[in-house]
Amino acid sequence: MEIKVLKSYKELSSTVANVVKRQLKKHPLSKLGLPTGDTPLGMYDELVKRELDWSHVITFNLDVYLMNVDHPESYQNYMRKNLFEKTNIYPDHSHFPFRPTSAFEDKIAGSMGIDLCILGIGTNGHIAFNEPGSSFLSRTRVVDLDEQTIEDNSRFFGSVDDTPKQAITMGLGTIMESKKIVLMANGDHKLNILNVAMNGEVTESIPASVLQNHDNVKVFYCD
Ligand code: F6R
Repeated sequence: MEIKVLKSYKELSSTVANVVKRQLKKHPLSKLGLPTGDTPLGMYDELVKRELDWSHVITFNLDVYLMNVDHPESYQNYMRKNLFEKTNIYPDHSHFPFRPTSAFEDKIAGSMGIDLCILGIGTNGHIAFNEPGSSFLSRTRVVDLDEQTIEDNSRFFGSVDDTPKQAITMGLGTIMESKKIVLMANGDHKLNILNVAMNGEVTESIPASVLQNHDNVKVFYCD
């Protein structure tokens, strides 16, 4: 798998925003899989600047913490703040994983699947919140977050104690059914895991390595 290395975070963000832009221009009724976290913030900024028509777009977020959705750090709030309230997307067109998780899967299937799925990667190789050991066939489900993930995400919550310990995540099987996938990674702390995932053994202990089995994945990195 080829990793395209970009010169700056700005370039990473605008490159991925342009991939999304091309997708929406060509297919205004696209279904997108969307990430949260630090990495895609610049991409959402760039997307907002492009003033695209989101009126026919349907989105499926990759994951949510099991927590109060009104919490400032909930992914529902993140998406509202960084993308949804700055575009003309219809509120009923944006979906977050929910329980029963099979109903969320039905929603994706009922909309004929995800056309373009944007991913980040965790320092332990997770994609969405599919932690090491997740089955490559996994579907949307409730998961316990890995200690490493809780530690990494405690920067958003002030302390490990206050960081959510569980989430609902799209499964690896669900993600792999996306027609196109873009993985974005920012920072040299992601380089090693990115290399292992893209060029090493395809193994459930490195969830992102499953992407080697997909025939339409683009990987963008900047340090
Ligand atoms: C969040 C998600 C996660 C993040 C990953 C990297 O929706 O899917 O897999 O992409 O934890 O997070 P950042 O970008 O904060 O380093």
